[in-house]
Amino acid sequence: MRYGAQRREIVVAKKLYVKTYGCQMNVYDSARMADVLAPHGYSSTDSPEEADLVILNTCNIREKAAEKVYSELGRLNLLKQERYAEGRRMYLAVGGCVGQAEGAELLRRAPFVDLVMGPQSYHRLPDLLRRAESGGVVDTEFPSENKFDHLPEESGGRAAGSRVSAFLTIQEGCDRFCTFCVVPYTRGAEFSRPVQDVENEARRLVACGARDITLLGQNVNAYHGINSAGGSGEVSLAALLRRLADIEGLQRLRYTTSHPRDLSADLITAHGELPALMPFLHLPVQSGSNRILKAMNRQHTAEDYRSLIEKLRQARPDIALSSDFIVGFPGETEAEFKDTLELARDIDYAQAFFFKYSPRPGTPAADNDAQVPEDVKSARLAALQTILTRSQAAFNASLVGRTLPVLFERPGRHANQMLGRTPYSQWVHADMPADIGGQCADIVITEAHTNSLAGRLLTDSSQQAPTVARNMGLEEGRPA
Ligand code: SAH
Ligand code: SF4
Ligand code: F3S
Repeated sequence: MRYGAQRREIVVAKKLYVKTYGCQMNVYDSARMADVLAPHGYSSTDSPEEADLVILNTCNIREKAAEKVYSELGRLNLLKQERYAEGRRMYLAVGGCVGQAEGAELLRRAPFVDLVMGPQSYHRLPDLLRRAESGGVVDTEFPSENKFDHLPEESGGRAAGSRVSAFLTIQEGCDRFCTFCVVPYTRGAEFSRPVQDVENEARRLVACGARDITLLGQNVNAYHGINSAGGSGEVSLAALLRRLADIEGLQRLRYTTSHPRDLSADLITAHGELPALMPFLHLPVQSGSNRILKAMNRQHTAEDYRSLIEKLRQARPDIALSSDFIVGFPGETEAEFKDTLELARDIDYAQAFFFKYSPRPGTPAADNDAQVPEDVKSARLAALQTILTRSQAAFNASLVGRTLPVLFERPGRHANQMLGRTPYSQWVHADMPADIGGQCADIVITEAHTNSLAGRLLTDSSQQAPTVARNMGLEEGRPA
């Protein structure tokens, strides 16, 4: 380049392969990485073999999740070497929470990696890749600038899967510091995006075809975005939901993940008021024992949790619940575990996730001497699993014969089959015209499986939806 000449990047067509681990926030981030790189010539591919850049967007929540990254890196290194032999370069980047936690250590263990970055640095990807041309780069500082201010407009969430349902990150980081959890260390302090930014992004997603938006945050109900539209003060999640529910064409709203401690009375009221807010809530309890909850620093008791569920059910009688559980937290006795079983049985969850406690370096519980032996954890997991899978199956079975509004998203595996979601997020397959995508239809549920449902279009007008479903407010808010 001549001195004084304008520095312009020559955009060469390149292929990007992103593999996503972990939570929905990583799914959102992966889509945004693709948005950041698109103006630099990158288009997405599903096959790492043809990629010029492979990004592993990683999760550090449990040991297994983190270890997976190293085995995947080993496989990708072979591919990278093959590409070298063919005279082409494949860049290998590690982003997400393992990138943040491991930093330079990751480069030491896997020196063939070109770039390690954290979840708050990927808006700098083009620059980081330029620097990586001449050797491994690590960027795990929490930047002073906010990545959301530096991201380009999203491409409608297409990279995050179906565009009918989309994720929108409204809050990041966590100040709760549960004693088992790495998230406050990998994602940093809690930060809420300004209301206007969130609303603008939601409107763009809807303009791109989104009908069902899930608002994301590590502790999403702690959301307190500043009101940048001339108003003053901060806006709560409940107020944000009320605002987004007015967006023309947006049929469904959800939010995840919630902390019981931050579930305000106003948010519970919103569940009763907003038809667009789907009657399904993931509210992790982790344990049913007050002593363990205290040791986990969850800052609520089992009774507090039960009372929240009761209030939610009063506000929205058809609400279905989901939770996360950890078994074998350090010091957990058999009796304390039984409290968890009892709570799981009592709440009657529609869905649940359950994990063996995994000590994470740098978290307080990892240093606890009273670690529970692996075989005890496994036995407890199996016992809890029996209860939770039974209640999930019972919930799905209870929908058979009911008519639910299903929002269709994409073709199914068989001819004429389309896949859509119920208000409770389960997939339903039904024979439907292909142009039903993005629209809602009343579907009679005919079969229940563990993780999906089958149904058919309600055609006979005499066959009204059971009044119970109507009274339970399952109808959609507005037509698209
Ligand atoms: N922000 C969410 C949790 C995100 S992590 C919340 O507060 O609920 C998702 C789930 O992983 C947690 O709910 C917890 O059940 C599980 N988890 C987190 N750390 C873990 C650990 N060290 N071992 C086992 N499970 C863990
Ligand atoms: Fe982790 Fe607790 Fe924060 Fe959830 S609330 S992200 S479990 S520290
Ligand atoms: Fe995993 Fe990080 Fe999400 S540790 S669960 S990817 S916040």
